[in-house]
Amino acid sequence: MIVTTADLFKIAYGNFAIGAYNINNMEQALGLFEGNVKAQAPFIVQISKGARQYANPRMLEAIIRAAEELYPEAIFAVHLDHGDEQTCYDCIDSGFYSSVMIDASHHPFAENVAITRRVVDRAHAKGISVESELGMLGGVEEDIAVDEKNAMLTDPDEAKAFVAQSGCDSLAVAIGTSHGAYKFSGSQGLHFDRMAEIQKRLPGFPLVMHGSSSVPQEEVARINAAGGKLNPSAKGVDANQFARAVPLGVTKVNIDTDGRLVWTRVHREYFRDHPEGFDFRKPGTLFVPAYADFIVDKSHKLLSAGTLPMVREALAK
Ligand code: G3H
Ligand code: 13P
Ligand code: ZN
Repeated sequence: MIVTTADLFKIAYGNFAIGAYNINNMEQALGLFEGNVKAQAPFIVQISKGARQYANPRMLEAIIRAAEELYPEAIFAVHLDHGDEQTCYDCIDSGFYSSVMIDASHHPFAENVAITRRVVDRAHAKGISVESELGMLGGVEEDIAVDEKNAMLTDPDEAKAFVAQSGCDSLAVAIGTSHGAYKFSGSQGLHFDRMAEIQKRLPGFPLVMHGSSSVPQEEVARINAAGGKLNPSAKGVDANQFARAVPLGVTKVNIDTDGRLVWTRVHREYFRDHPEGFDFRKPGTLFVPAYADFIVDKSHKLLSAGTLPMVREALAK
């Protein structure tokens, strides 16, 4: 059942975080729905601009609608990830999305506010909620590369002013994470003190943590043992820290890279072990349950596992 992101946030805030996972194809959708139903967790299906270009928006919508029929127990929202203004409007007008993210964080504050405000006005007129971003994460965001040193943590006072002026419904904050497989060097990590400061100024307001993949070292090692050349020092967010972020207002946690690593590991190992193989359905069949297991594990870390009956009840009120 597709529900509004706003309803999910109301139920989740302070209790658990909702996993927001990017999908680009059928196999990811099957594993995502299977895993969340198994874990009894609500979730958010995210579609990036890149996914829309790769798979075609209508194809993605058809995949998600089919998955909804195959998994009638699933409770989820559909969200545009890192949209520009025009893509936000396309998604708002499509009538399929529960929420959109306008990412104008690379613009100066006032322009970020103005762009977000325009998207909010169009989205709210249709009952769709809007995530915006303030501050700069490290790593690569769509086509914007930000080197780790220049990544700027979100300023708490600015966050308060931004939400008041833009009218956005949730805010992606830079609190130490970055996109992709190479997040932390040395001892960097999540800035809980910064989260607490932001929450103080925005009590009850849902914060979003992008760049939240864990980049498990075992996964990287298996990929490299099967012919990959990922940097073995690749490090991500410690998923055991999600539980500490939840009471500080982190309500949505974005995970994409980890799913790509599962895909790469399964496919590299399969073709390493079956060099004569060329039927992609064989590794695809292995990927779906492997991805579902991965989702189950994340749901436990996000504290969303087992909440589905309570979420269903709260939504019915
Ligand atoms: O933050 C970006 C997401 O991981 C989506 O990546 O733009 O390559 O689809 P993508
Ligand atoms: P990761 O690259 O850490 O998976 O982050 C994904 C993300 O933030 C999508 O918006
Ligand atoms: Zn992101």
